[in-house]
Formats: sequence, structure tokens, C-alpha cells
Amino acid sequence: MSTPPTEAIFSNIFNTNTWGSMESVSGAGSELSNTAQIIRELPALLRELRVQTFLDMPCGDFNWMQHVDLEGIDYLGADIVDELVQRNNERFGRSGRRFGKLDLLSGDLPKVDLVLCRDCLFHFSHADVFRALHALAESRSQWLLTTTFTYRTLPRNGDIETGGWTPINLEMAPYHLPPPRRLIVEGNVTEAIIYPLLEGSPRFPQTDRSLGLWLLDDVRETLARIGR
Ligand SMILES: C[S@@+](CC[C@H](N)C(=O)[O-])C[C@H]1O[C@@H](n2cnc3c(N)ncnc32)[C@H](O)[C@@H]1O
Repeated sequence: MSTPPTEAIFSNIFNTNTWGSMESVSGAGSELSNTAQIIRELPALLRELRVQTFLDMPCGDFNWMQHVDLEGIDYLGADIVDELVQRNNERFGRSGRRFGKLDLLSGDLPKVDLVLCRDCLFHFSHADVFRALHALAESRSQWLLTTTFTYRTLPRNGDIETGGWTPINLEMAPYHLPPPRRLIVEGNVTEAIIYPLLEGSPRFPQTDRSLGLWLLDDVRETLARIGR
């Protein structure tokens, strides 16, 4: 049986609420209780980087992003699921805030100052992660801010079928990106991996689910260096 195309996989996830959250069709990781720290930290990073054009891809249902202060920034939210994009435009579209249908895997992405690609690459096979990194690098956008799990000692980067999930660490094989230039630790507890505690270690959640910041020039160089 052939693999269903990405659009069909994620439309089905949307239509059946596969990720099971009552608050967000993008899953528990997109609930407000799990995104409070990025809602607070993201505006300062965007200002520090002087971001004027911002591509949020994938935007999902815009559940938490609607609470981020994007004053003065031209925002484009993009997703592969048509109905999500239409619904977002109806509910949240306004001047300086648009939503469009884009496929991260197909290339031809707009050039912006910063692309946020949160909670997406970890749903992709290795081949699709590389396809996405190439598409982002070829867009000639400047910055990529994307999900990465920073701990290294537990299984990482499984070659799943697109539509599944694996904790991704972009600094490790087969991706080998350099250390991120900034890291926002999300502090997400319910969707983090709770690591086993060693005897006597502090009793707080050990969560390494983060947003890492890379220059897309560095991503392009890495892809060339590792020949992928
Ligand atoms: C877990 S949600 C994350 C949404 C959002 N980034 C957030 O933080 O709430 C993953 C999203 O990726 C979208 N997606 C999957 N493959 C895509 C692709 N090739 N191009 C664009 N969006 C894609 C899905 O439709 C889904 O909305």
C-alpha cells in the first residue's frame, strides 16, 4: 500500500482530533498551560532579532499564538490543512495577520526574517525532515526557530513514518546542526518527556522540550557538509 500524502495524513489528524486535546486540535503541546513560557519569551526574542516579517509554519489552530504580542510584525500563519487555514482567516485574520495554505515539504516558501516551525519536524520521517530543512534553507529566510529536545542520552530522532512522533534533537545524527544560537526552554510539563530521577536529584520535572534558534545559512552549510 502506498504512503498517504502528507496533506491527507494531517487532514485526517485534524478531522478526527487524533492528538486528543479538548482545547487545541494541535494537541496538548499547544494548550495555554503548556505554552505560557513561549507566549512570554517569544516577543522579546523577535524584538531582539528585529524581526519584521514572521512566518509561523505550521500555525495549527493559532490557539496559543493569538496571545503573543506581535505588535508591528507582519505575520503569516501557514499550514497544510486547508480547513484550518480558512478557519483561522475567518476567526483571526486582520491587517498584518494572514493565514495561507503552504506545504513545508514542497518548497517555494516565502522569504521572511524568521520562520517558526514549532512541533512539526518531530512528526516527520528523516527524509521529510531533510526535505523541510532544504525548503526552509532555499527560501533564503534569515532565522529558523524550531522544536528541539536538548538532552542526548535517551532515544532520539527515530525514523518514524510521517504523521507519527519522535523526540527530535537537531544537533544529533542524522541532522548534525550546530548548537542553537538561542534556546527557549518551553517548560511544558504534560507533553514533556519526564526523565527518570536519580536518587537525591531535585524533584522538579526534567523537561528539555525547547525552541532552538538557527541561522538558515548555518542550516544550508550543514546540509552541504553532511551531503543530505
Ligand atoms: C502539532 S501541530 C503544531 C501547530 C503549531 N505550530 C503549534 O505550535 O501549535 C502540527 C501542525 O503541522 C501541520 N503540518 C504537517 N505537515 C505539514 C506540512 N508539510 N506543511 C505545513 N504544515 C504541516 C499540521 O497540519 C498541524 O497543524
